[in-house]
Amino acid sequence: MSKEAFGIDIGGSGIKGAPVNLSKGRLATDRLRIPTPQPSTPDAVAETVSQLLTAFQVSPELPVGVTFPAVIQQGVAKTAANVDKSWIGTDVNALLSEKTGHDVFVVNDADAAGIAEMKFGAGKNRRGVVTIVTLGTGIGTAVFSDGKLVPNTELGHLPLHGDAAERYCADSARDREELGWEEWAGRLQEYFDMLEFLTNPDLIIIGGGVSKKHEKYLPLLNTRAEIVPAKLRNEAGIIGAAQLARKEAKRKAKLAEKAEKKQG
Ligand code: BGC
Repeated sequence: MSKEAFGIDIGGSGIKGAPVNLSKGRLATDRLRIPTPQPSTPDAVAETVSQLLTAFQVSPELPVGVTFPAVIQQGVAKTAANVDKSWIGTDVNALLSEKTGHDVFVVNDADAAGIAEMKFGAGKNRRGVVTIVTLGTGIGTAVFSDGKLVPNTELGHLPLHGDAAERYCADSARDREELGWEEWAGRLQEYFDMLEFLTNPDLIIIGGGVSKKHEKYLPLLNTRAEIVPAKLRNEAGIIGAAQLARKEAKRKAKLAEKAEKKQG
């Protein structure tokens, strides 16, 4: 099986995709971004995902991994904080596979970013508890213990000042409320105090688009754990989704091989 797969990152404002070189852990070509349709209903988003795959002429054999900003259990979306509510209960794997004609594998966006950072980025070879926190429209989290992921932790929804923490201190709150870096860092400090109190990570990795401006706010934070920016920046989701899709394709191929052997 080739060391390539296709990754797609479905976000609240943009849907981005690119082929991924999985030996090197980076995009094989520039990514393409299409604005997320509004309302972001399952059918409209599936159409955009199809457009991306067509634009890259992705061959049907290439595994396709997709990130989604929600709790994903066995391919089904269980929540929808920053996308159309009609996603709740949708079998995302089935919908996207049917609409695109590719075998699509879906995963929570922060979990995908975390998987990529652990293999190729700031979490490489790190044991203990590593927590990736993505700061974007919402706050996504991925928690690893000795390199093993506990999926769907959703620590961006911890309550803070009477609402989900992400409403108070995601990057979108900085934009919406026009917060300066210091003021935003003050809010993040409250969030990380709570996160550390509850989960005691050894390392915190900050992802999301704003991770590239880390000098503006990371030095203002005081955490017990080491805190560093993601190395793969905003591409981590695409890379992680591709990694997981390839793993899943391998697993399926093995199962099919076993079944064939049994029969013949
Ligand atoms: C969602 C998470 C997602 C995060 C980042 C939150 O609102 O509940 O599933 O990982 O946003 O997109």
